[in-house]
Amino acid sequence: MPGQLNEEEILRGLKTRFMARSLKIFNNIKSTNDHARLLAENGAPEGTVILADWQSKGKGRMGRSWESAAGKGVWFSIILRPNLSVDRAPLLNLMGALAVYRTILGLGDSWSSTNPKLSLKWPNDVLLDGKKVCGILSELGTDEDRVQYVVVGVGLNINHAPEDFSPAIRHQATSLKLGWESKEELPRNSIFSAVINQFEKDYLVNLKDNFKITVDDWMAETGMIGRVVRLRQGRRTFEGYVKDLGSGGELILQTEGGGLVSVTSGEVDLLGVNAVNRSLNHLNLVP
Ligand code: BTN
Repeated sequence: MPGQLNEEEILRGLKTRFMARSLKIFNNIKSTNDHARLLAENGAPEGTVILADWQSKGKGRMGRSWESAAGKGVWFSIILRPNLSVDRAPLLNLMGALAVYRTILGLGDSWSSTNPKLSLKWPNDVLLDGKKVCGILSELGTDEDRVQYVVVGVGLNINHAPEDFSPAIRHQATSLKLGWESKEELPRNSIFSAVINQFEKDYLVNLKDNFKITVDDWMAETGMIGRVVRLRQGRRTFEGYVKDLGSGGELILQTEGGGLVSVTSGEVDLLGVNAVNRSLNHLNLVP
């Protein structure tokens, strides 16, 4: 049936050496991340991918749920086994977001009738015209201070109409179809294959240089350096401007009080231009 996830079609689009060469597709599952973790614990090889049409208990970051409407997006988890210390594992999030970002940039030429702004938001959101089109949740298995496996879970919204999102998130979520103002349904199978191809390419490059290139690329692609942000971590909030990205992918903020704060998790709100000027003035960083 057109529009359905289809293994043959996906395999035809794959150009990978090992990524998704072991592929399991589910019509429905609670969470592809949970399933992938179970497989990883039982020795599943690197590159194994679990893909679902619908998740009944999709997981988001910070204990939230992830809406995974049937037939509307691709919800998948990749098992990786990089030789990496635990403190550098967050770089896989950034790398995953960059891979999705690059794939969308490449596909937009063929499908988009408009030219919406694609951006990255720390740590791992991909935004289309400021709304979230993709989220990533990575989960780790560790052996002392080394990574034993990482499950990188990707939720990419593809064919949603506004009413396919719950009212609670409608104002902040989008899909490729909405962002690109496409009249046609977009091909989920080939979009999935394209993400996987990009993912393997980026992963192999990163393995060679211990993920340093991800930090450089992320800095180059994102508009966040120098932006004023509010960072929420549970009940704590910091305001400041983004000074740098650390070698482990942590965000380094210059806070209003003048100190530097290095954060590895949290929710970032980008503040508007006026706020940027106001805050930078306040910090005596602009004339
Ligand atoms: C976020 O909160 O931004 C992260 C969302 C991650 C969602 C994906 S969908 C596939 C995989 N399985 C899950 O349960 N979650 C991730």
